[in-house]
Amino acid sequence: MKPVRKKIGKSVRSASSVKASSAKKSAAPAKGNVSALWAGRFSAGMSPSMEKLSVSLHFDKKLYREDIEGSMAHAHGLHAAKVLTASERDRMVAGLKGILADIAAGKALFKPSDEDIHMAVERILTERVGDLGKKLHTGRSRNDQVATDFRLYVMRRAEALTGRVEELQGALLAKAKQYKADIMPGYTHVQQAQPILIAHYLLSFFFALERDKSRLRHAWWSAGEMPLGSGALAGSAFPYNRELVAERLGFPAVSRNSIDATAHRDFALEFLGALGCIGVLLSSYAEDFVIWSASEFGYVKLGEAYTSGSSMMPQKRNPDSMELIRGKAGRLLGAQARLFTVLKGLPHGYDRDLQEDKEPVFDAVETASTCLQVMAEAIESLTFDTKKILKRMQPALLATDLADVLVEKGVPFRDAHHIVGRLVGEAEKKGVSFLELPAESWKTVPDAAKVRKMLTYAFSVERRNIQGGTGSKSVAAQIREAEKILKRVG
Ligand code: ARG
Repeated sequence: MKPVRKKIGKSVRSASSVKASSAKKSAAPAKGNVSALWAGRFSAGMSPSMEKLSVSLHFDKKLYREDIEGSMAHAHGLHAAKVLTASERDRMVAGLKGILADIAAGKALFKPSDEDIHMAVERILTERVGDLGKKLHTGRSRNDQVATDFRLYVMRRAEALTGRVEELQGALLAKAKQYKADIMPGYTHVQQAQPILIAHYLLSFFFALERDKSRLRHAWWSAGEMPLGSGALAGSAFPYNRELVAERLGFPAVSRNSIDATAHRDFALEFLGALGCIGVLLSSYAEDFVIWSASEFGYVKLGEAYTSGSSMMPQKRNPDSMELIRGKAGRLLGAQARLFTVLKGLPHGYDRDLQEDKEPVFDAVETASTCLQVMAEAIESLTFDTKKILKRMQPALLATDLADVLVEKGVPFRDAHHIVGRLVGEAEKKGVSFLELPAESWKTVPDAAKVRKMLTYAFSVERRNIQGGTGSKSVAAQIREAEKILKRVG
């Protein structure tokens, strides 16, 4: 490999570093003015390759709001610690507010020489408020700063995603009400198993999402320990009011150990775990809708806006939304695996590896948010072809009911199972439904004629009004419970 002809400083470092790059011994580190805020002890600049490895502004600028709000709260903490006067605090907070507003308005304030969002904000502040800006980092390290920013980000996104989950739940509940009287085959092993109400199926999705919300809530709590005051690892030496800072930022608690606060990212793992569960859940319902929209089934139709055509085959309308959601689950699971791998075996306290904690989380948040939104809209657009569904239902769906009826007539369940099994087997051989077999075949069944008439899909469904079952009363109770849940929210 050719030795790197360094243009040290071209991208990140100072003008004098650029000069150093033209020196003959170009593989040697740059000399002279090193401009990074931490570079007091350095006489040489980073190599361009090292800069490329090190710089994180391009992604951690996503934390600008959390970083600036964290700094504003920190200024209040410093005032309480008598490091800042009230007027210094106010000037500092006003300066930070201005930066926040400017970045939010899309003003280009960042420079290539800013290593990360923390350095960028401090530089801009110092340019705007003068030497006062240099006091901001008192008693603080980027280690507790980044942990604070990231925890705050996770808390906020956990809340926002909970809102997205609730939108999906709203769509599912509305759809369940629309189809509360319609029957479909319920499946196990992708084989028709027992009749269910369509609403019952849709509500299975609703209640599973309720657990995703509690996982998000738990991740919020785990993230909710405020690190500022921890410094680099040992705690700030200033009498800093951590509770006040936590309260200003909306943290429910302060961290109890400064090494724990700066070195651990389990809250992010937990958050990614919750998003992974959402991804897996969405992917499996997506899979149902993919299969059911195939012409072989024809059970459902997605709104056109959630499908796309083929560039070659004019007749195609593919359920791309569902396939993409199914695919994105892999990405969500990968995010957690990626962070787990970064964290495994890290020594204590802060290590720079931890900079790798953010991108998987940022990506997972975007991915989960979009998937939830599309799923909610697609559910809204979904129609079930109830006539076709009924036509596709196989009478063998009623085999369990026949066995249950026999049990009610005093036949032990195993014997009943056997009797019905033989009927179904015989019917299969003859290519008819077991209900169509001649009376002769049914002679093992007591009251055969009456029982045969009884056996309808509605009969099967209505026998299951047990709490949580698919009977219409049970489904109505589920709908009421779902309504209560969403009312509590709204
Ligand atoms: N960009 C860094 C990160 O995301 C900030 C913390 C840097 N701390 C340090 N000691 N170098 O983790």
